[in-house]
Amino acid sequence: MPAPAVTPLRPLPPPLHPGLPLTALAPMQDVTDLPFMAVIAHYGAPDYFFTEFFRVHATSRLEPHIVRSITDNATGRPVFAQLIGESLPDLARAAADLLRLPAAGIDLNLGCPAPKIYRKNVGGGLHRDLAKLGEILRTLRASTLGIFTVKTRIGFEDGATFERLLELVDLHGADLLSVHCRSVKELYRGEPHYEFAARAVARLRCPVLANGEISSAAKAGAVLASTGAAGVMVGRHAIRNPWIFRQIREHCSGMPVFAPTLGEVREYIDRLFRATANPAAPELARVSRLKKYLNFIAQSVDAEGRFLRAMRHTHTEAELFAVCDEHLLGAPATPFATEPYPGVIARPNCELPLGMACT
Ligand SMILES: Cc1cc2nc3c(=O)[nH]c(=O)nc-3n(C[C@H](O)[C@H](O)[C@H](O)COP(=O)(O)O)c2cc1C
Repeated sequence: MPAPAVTPLRPLPPPLHPGLPLTALAPMQDVTDLPFMAVIAHYGAPDYFFTEFFRVHATSRLEPHIVRSITDNATGRPVFAQLIGESLPDLARAAADLLRLPAAGIDLNLGCPAPKIYRKNVGGGLHRDLAKLGEILRTLRASTLGIFTVKTRIGFEDGATFERLLELVDLHGADLLSVHCRSVKELYRGEPHYEFAARAVARLRCPVLANGEISSAAKAGAVLASTGAAGVMVGRHAIRNPWIFRQIREHCSGMPVFAPTLGEVREYIDRLFRATANPAAPELARVSRLKKYLNFIAQSVDAEGRFLRAMRHTHTEAELFAVCDEHLLGAPATPFATEPYPGVIARPNCELPLGMACT
């Protein structure tokens, strides 16, 4: 019997520094929009960006604000467009529409753990129907002339189906696999199982990015060493510390690693606010939006979580910025902690199942 045809792989866009591990900003709904990517690029861009997911179904059209993160991208770094969906013709249509834009490639979401999403058999739900997933991978590979990538969790309940997933990813010629090393059911709990990234590296022809709690340059170095992954993808820890991609590059090239101070973090907060606040929105909405980012930043400001609690109690911009000044400019040369302080928890710290609290 003839061996099944092997889909050739396409090379990824050139990284910033060939020879160093790859870095990517993880896609985060309601976070990784055009202004946020610009802020991250200011402090040290990753090699690759990914958009928030485009929802794809019979009546879906590409959401204009996500489209802008591709068409108006001025970071100089490639942006992959992420899709979530299960309808083959609609996924093919969305991929074709996106490839008319300057998207670096098409990324399929196999990770979203929100019940409202996975119950529709999309995102993380596709781990429960690998036959369907195979059809989706075949369809997207066939309709994506350029680069086709996949972002996955290790499985639905656990990692029992991971080998079969890897077979499909390889068979259908994905050009890059990003692995959030937890199952869908694990949500964001516990330490990720990085050994699954190592298994993907061993099994696949394409490069693998390890994802999940890459909280510092040192942690990135340790995960890269233990998995052999081509690179790391960083989400929430890049909100907390936008210097992380630069720091990973410095760490991996044996250079001194930049150590920001609280004063520099105060400037980051200003830049974030200027970039992301909608002047037409009510003040409370602008305050809430900034607090969303501050939840993460506060994890490295003080070990007792004083800044976190104080900023949560503010209601106006004046109050919020006064709290920022008090906690960050009192001793501006104080180092911003490399890792989050234990017990200082960002809430919510993960993607929300539309309107529900995250558990
Ligand atoms: C607010 C938020 C939104 C997210 N939205 C997406 C998304 O649109 N697509 C996706 O594949 N993953 C999404 N994720 C998951 C992240 O890409 C990433 O896999 C996860 O946060 C683990 O990485 P981290 O520990 O570096 O944050 C989201 C996570 C968060 C916290």
